[in-house]
Amino acid sequence: MNKIDLLKLDVKNFFKEEYSGHDYQHTQRVTKLAMYIAGKEKADTKIVELAALLHDVDDYKITGKHDSHFNAIKLMNKYDVDENIQEKVLRIIEEVSYMANDSVKPETLEGQIVQDADRLDAIGAIGIARAFMYSGNHGNLMYDPDIKPNLCMNKDEYINSNSTTINHFYEKLLLLKDMMNTSTAKKLAVKRHAFMEKFLEEFLMEWSCLK
Ligand code: ADP
Ligand code: NI
Repeated sequence: MNKIDLLKLDVKNFFKEEYSGHDYQHTQRVTKLAMYIAGKEKADTKIVELAALLHDVDDYKITGKHDSHFNAIKLMNKYDVDENIQEKVLRIIEEVSYMANDSVKPETLEGQIVQDADRLDAIGAIGIARAFMYSGNHGNLMYDPDIKPNLCMNKDEYINSNSTTINHFYEKLLLLKDMMNTSTAKKLAVKRHAFMEKFLEEFLMEWSCLK
C-alpha cells in the first residue's frame, strides 16, 4: 500500500465509534467531491486530498479542543509529509469549518475547494440526513414552531446551539448555496438546495395540516 492509502486507513480507524455527523463516510464523500472539483478547477490535488482527509480529525466536536492540530500533525509526520505541504494543509483545516457569522473564505483555491466539498456534503439529501442524525445524537427536537431560527450567531453560539433540526436549515443549510467559492461547486449546489426546499415545504405542510 502507498502512503496515502495507509493514511486513509489511519483516518478510518480514527473515526471508529464516531457518530456525531463527522464519521469516516463524511470524510470519504468530502474527499471524493473535493478531488472532483479540484480536477475541474485545476488545483493542486495532493494538497486538496490531504486537507480533505484530515479536515475533521481535530474537530472540536470530536476532540473537545479548539484550535488544535494534534492529530493532523501526528498523521502527516507519520507519513513524512513535507513541512511546507503540512503548513498549507493546516492552514486549510483552520479555514474550512462552518462557524456561522465567523466563517472565513479560505485564501487558496485548494482551501476554497475543500470548504466547498465540506459544505456540499451538508446540503441535499445527505445533508438533510446528517442534520437529523446530529439532532438525534444531541437530543434536540426536530421541530418546534415556537422556537425561531437565530440568524445572528457567532462561532461560540453556533457550536453551543441546541436549536431544532428545522431551524438548522434556516440558520445554516439554506445559506450554503450562495457561499460556495468555486463555479463547479456552485453548479453542484443548485440541485441539492432545491431538494432541501422541497423537503421543507412538504415537512411544514404535513405539520401544519395536523388538526
Ligand atoms: P463542519 O465542521 O462540516 O463545517 P459542523 O460541525 O457545523 O460542520 O456540522 C457537522 C454536521 O452536523 C453537518 O451536517 C451539520 O449540518 C450538522 N449540524 C451542525 N449543527 C447542527 C444543529 N444544531 N442541528 C442539526 N444539525 C447540525
Ligand atoms: Ni466536515
